[in-house]
Amino acid sequence: MKILGIESSCDETAAAVVEDGRKVLSSVVASQIDIHAVYGGVVPEIASRAHTEAICGVVNSALEQAEVTINDIDAISVTNAPGLIGALLTGVSFAKGLAFSTGKPLVPVHHIRGHVAANYLVHEELKPPFVALVVSGGHTSLMRVNDYTDYSLIGCARDDAAGEAFDKCARVLGLPYPGGAAMDKLAGLGDSKKYKFTAGNVDGAEFDFSFSGLKTSVINLVHSETQRGRVMDEEFKADVAASFTSTLIKTITTRLELLFQREGGCNIVLAGGVAANSHLRKAVGETAEKYGAKLYLPPLKLCGDNAAMIASQGYFEFLDGVRGGTDLNAYATKSV
Ligand code: KG4
Ligand code: ZN
Repeated sequence: MKILGIESSCDETAAAVVEDGRKVLSSVVASQIDIHAVYGGVVPEIASRAHTEAICGVVNSALEQAEVTINDIDAISVTNAPGLIGALLTGVSFAKGLAFSTGKPLVPVHHIRGHVAANYLVHEELKPPFVALVVSGGHTSLMRVNDYTDYSLIGCARDDAAGEAFDKCARVLGLPYPGGAAMDKLAGLGDSKKYKFTAGNVDGAEFDFSFSGLKTSVINLVHSETQRGRVMDEEFKADVAASFTSTLIKTITTRLELLFQREGGCNIVLAGGVAANSHLRKAVGETAEKYGAKLYLPPLKLCGDNAAMIASQGYFEFLDGVRGGTDLNAYATKSV
């Protein structure tokens, strides 16, 4: 069964064709990073317009690269939540039009479930139940995946997501948007014990995350140091990046340790843009090993937003009978 996936929740316009939820026949991603970089972050209205311009070409390329036509497609899956509302509506409206005009079934997909599904594309043996941690620009969510389409939330970010904190710290250090990958490299060159930062805990919600205080401490440190006349040389930037990264990662591994202590080592899936971070991959790997848990990671190219993950999750949603009609809407927020 061949599913066409469409993704437009943030700043990537993507389309892909995936067979039986596991085999990628094509995956095309048109990134808008260059457009938003001059503003230091995603400008929602510009993102919506850029999606509108790119979407026809991106879908056509995905079909061409998979060497199929729309007639060979069994269902059209599309991210309809969560994300930037205007950006989501572009993909949803396009998918609705395509499904209506071709008579193909339409399947809405939750973006966070899509990130988790990126792992099905590379780990043939991976099947629920497992625990999943999605760490991206917009989300930090720890979940129980009871079945392909049955999720329960264990904990999530109450304020800034991990990726957002990475990007804001990168910005204050003068790195171009999005700064996650540059922070990854810099952190490898710095001393993680140089600056003492702390990340917040949430009273009464031991698995929730709070990264906005950590982000603010980094910004305050950089501002006060530069006001004192300090030059932001490579050593300073690397030490800040390393100290920030290790504090953020510690918050994540502390929660995973708590979960493993309570429930024993289970299968764990890491996903989302920040899952590309080399230090996070290593630390989560070590924590999993300590508790006898098996860690599944997506390859770097499937960590960030793409449509292959949406087509994969779309397949499982389709099998479960999930359908969208011409009244399908997009939602900026939606529980997983
Ligand atoms: O999953 P994603 O493409 O978009 C959302 O769904 O939000 O994640 C994008 C985020 C950005 O914040 C970006 O800076 C971050 O992932 N990112 C990284 C790395 N590569 C991308 N953060 C830390 N280390 C990386 N290597
Ligand atoms: Zn994402």
